[in-house]
Amino acid sequence: MRAAGVREFGGQVEVFDLPEPRDPGPGEAVIEVVAAGVGNWDELVRTGEWKVGREAPMALGVEAAGRVVTVGSEVLGLTPGDEVLGHPVQLREQGCWAERVLVDAGLVVRKPPSVSWEVAGAFPVPALTAEQVLSESLELAEGDTVLVHGAGGTTGGLIVQLAALRGARVIATAGPSSAARVAEAGAAEVLDYHDSRWPELVRELTGGVGVDGAVNAARGGSSHAVLAVRDCGRLATITGDPPESVRGISVSDVYVRPDAAQLEELCTLLGDGRLRLSVGAALALADAATALERAMAGANGGPVVLLV
Ligand SMILES: NC(=O)c1ccc[n+]([C@@H]2O[C@H](COP(=O)([O-])OP(=O)(O)OC[C@H]3O[C@@H](n4cnc5c(N)ncnc54)[C@H](OP(=O)(O)O)[C@@H]3O)[C@@H](O)[C@H]2O)c1
Repeated sequence: MRAAGVREFGGQVEVFDLPEPRDPGPGEAVIEVVAAGVGNWDELVRTGEWKVGREAPMALGVEAAGRVVTVGSEVLGLTPGDEVLGHPVQLREQGCWAERVLVDAGLVVRKPPSVSWEVAGAFPVPALTAEQVLSESLELAEGDTVLVHGAGGTTGGLIVQLAALRGARVIATAGPSSAARVAEAGAAEVLDYHDSRWPELVRELTGGVGVDGAVNAARGGSSHAVLAVRDCGRLATITGDPPESVRGISVSDVYVRPDAAQLEELCTLLGDGRLRLSVGAALALADAATALERAMAGANGGPVVLLV
């Protein structure tokens, strides 16, 4: 089968042939991939920094949507032909930038019929990240005031939507070209991060106190975001740059993990339009290297997907 990946960690992304997945064992399924998301996190897999359970040579890709081809024993609730999506890490054999992928069947959930393949393929990682930072790291409660720094990106935008949906007052930072979209996503106030005084402005918007919780989704941004958090509040960063804890603020360094129950809930919200995601670019599997370059340059309004 055709796949896109690397022959060695750190190597160029190439398209090559790989053996078909083996027959699924107990609790496993083979998925025919229709669309697979491309995020700047795939660069960490390409270089070997993010260990996803497989050594190179390997297909990259840690999220996908597709149709079930075969299921192994002990798989409940999935049959061939079902339309599913997931973040199937640790990988069983190969990544998702491939025609077919063997997965832990417990990590995929049904694709809502109203959701396009493109959106379904790019949804799992940013959506699960949004859920985990808000409900687990920030322990978000209705009425909290939350800062989302870097809200103009795909993950940042979903964090804003989900926080607003859960009844938080959201203050966001975004560039001028993303500000209107971030406000529409549910941010009550949007500040331009190019103005270095933005943490001070967040404090002014909260009566000088600071926000209850902050999510940093901008690379290297958490040392600024923490300035806007109230004493004994919470900060979660998704860019691997946790600052020293100060003023009793609890700091979390968050890495997404698969969780089918959370993904199912998020898919319900996506399916009925309470969460929205628009794809920025859809490319062919053969253009995987370009897709990764684009994702790394910043999705700017929508994620990149490969149509397999
Ligand atoms: N730890 C994890 O498990 C995990 C999971 C998902 C994502 N991530 C990481 O989280 C980061 C954000 O992900 P994403 O999907 O939202 O990425 P993305 O879609 O590529 O976000 C790019 C956006 O970031 C904004 N940005 C760039 N520089 C900024 C700055 N200095 N301050 C504030 N915003 C800035 C820009 O928005 P404007 O258009 O507003 O300028 C740009 O459009 C990435 O580094 C990603 O790798 C980590």
